[in-house]
Amino acid sequence: MRLAIFGNPIAQSKSPIIQCAFAEQFGLPDFEYGRILAPVDGFAESLHRFVAEGGQGGNVTAPFKEDAFRCCDRLTARAAAAQAVNTLKVEADGTILGDNTDGIGLVMDLRRFCSLAGKRILVLGAGGATRGVILPLAGDKPADIVIANRTAAKAVDLASTFSTKIDVPICGVALDQVCGVFDVIIDATSASLGGEAIPLPVGIFGTGCVAYEMVYGKGQTPFMRRAAEAGAAHLVEGLGMLVYQAVEAFELWTGLRPDAEPVFAMLRNA
Ligand code: ATR
Repeated sequence: MRLAIFGNPIAQSKSPIIQCAFAEQFGLPDFEYGRILAPVDGFAESLHRFVAEGGQGGNVTAPFKEDAFRCCDRLTARAAAAQAVNTLKVEADGTILGDNTDGIGLVMDLRRFCSLAGKRILVLGAGGATRGVILPLAGDKPADIVIANRTAAKAVDLASTFSTKIDVPICGVALDQVCGVFDVIIDATSASLGGEAIPLPVGIFGTGCVAYEMVYGKGQTPFMRRAAEAGAAHLVEGLGMLVYQAVEAFELWTGLRPDAEPVFAMLRNA
């Protein structure tokens, strides 16, 4: 099977290590998973060349998830809702299926800490990262989902778009208007990438709260420090989301469900 991840930059991607480790679990012969550095304005050409040369699918990382969404012949419901694709599969008839496994990856990781059913979830940010996770989060039947964003109008718009797609109450507010106490707080902003703090009201971290930082490898971000000071029970960074989105993608290509645990251990010790 010939797969690859597309991105720019791409050298940093851990996906080849993760996917090859999964393939080893099943002793899959001829499993190839490469890295493709596509030009910023040339994703579609890179993808079509790869497919013409026998590529059977792959993953897509920044900045191409929206380009990939536009290149697919068919989309899963979660990719359509996310308007972004992180997983591609070339079907037997040569058409391209686009999926988005980021959100279910997050949900799988969160489930290690608590059941989401009946819980209050706060998602910080209203960009692509948030759009990718709302549908899968709602699938676990939380009590409600609040989207809070620096630019309030974007949170309100996103909540209103999703309100017709999910059967969980959802609303959008400005960051400084967040009120109440939450069981799960997810940082889906890009603030932590630049080490910036998010101005959060006090008292929103409930007892047993899971504070989830989607970014990983940045050490204690300002969001995680804030959560720790507020007494959050679990501080989690997004490495698990990365591993579990890969589990879902591997299953889509091969029909086999790999064990995430040994791969987790390998990445933590790397
Ligand atoms: P992504 O695709 O990673 O979600 P994006 O679409 O550019 O990236 O969205 C980035 C998100 O992080 C936005 O919600 C942005 O808030 P605005 O809509 O107000 O721009 C949020 N963000 C970025 N830096 C931030 C900061 N310092 N504090 C709070 N929110 C921030």
